[in-house]
Amino acid sequence: MIMAKFSDIKGFVFDLDGVITDTSVFHSQAWHQVADKVGAPWSKELEDGLKGISRMDSLEMILKAGNLQDHYTDDQKVDLATEKNTNYLKLVDKMTPANILPGIKEFLDEIKDGGYLLSLASASKNAPTVLEKLQLTNYFPKIVDPKTLSKGKPDPEIYLKGAELINLKPEQCIGVEDAAAGVESINAAGETSIGIGDKTILKDADVNFTDTSEMTLANIKEQMD
Ligand code: G6P
Ligand code: MG
Repeated sequence: MIMAKFSDIKGFVFDLDGVITDTSVFHSQAWHQVADKVGAPWSKELEDGLKGISRMDSLEMILKAGNLQDHYTDDQKVDLATEKNTNYLKLVDKMTPANILPGIKEFLDEIKDGGYLLSLASASKNAPTVLEKLQLTNYFPKIVDPKTLSKGKPDPEIYLKGAELINLKPEQCIGVEDAAAGVESINAAGETSIGIGDKTILKDADVNFTDTSEMTLANIKEQMD
């Protein structure tokens, strides 16, 4: 339920993977390899459920899908997660600004020109590297450090910190997400949520767009007021 009016909004708290860039595909690809290696079944539901989930929690979800959670020691789990990250970073290394999703650069400029504040609330420890590759670092001087979080999405902590970093109240912020766990986190933080992607998966978002290219201030205002 939307509590805020568009005129109350002073800032945007962005997710990264799957919103700003297409890295969610790379995360999936790298996790799929791990699932195959350990013999856990891969499915569309698992793939969607992993979006927004931290590295170690993602591994646990994959192992659980194969009923394998007790088959690995903590050290072996760290090794599997490290292997996934190495494979993921190989894909990230090839990225260029061409990997920015449609309309995002224009939207970031619209936000900046409109005097709105901006922060990043990604669960990814690789977020600064990805922003560098996309040449978007300058847009995000405020990034929530996932190492400081006690709980991942869907807990509200990350989106509350995103608002705090730009000195705004949650009611003054819009959070932008492609993951169900992320939309839940934004809503629990008391911010207005935008869900990008499949509306049946992101049914709890206050504002929905099927594609990043539809996200403009005018289109957001239209769905909020
Ligand atoms: C984002 C992605 C997840 C990923 C998580 C941790 O939330 O949506 O797919 O697992 O970040 O990323 P990291 O790069 O730290 O492994
Ligand atoms: Mg995401």
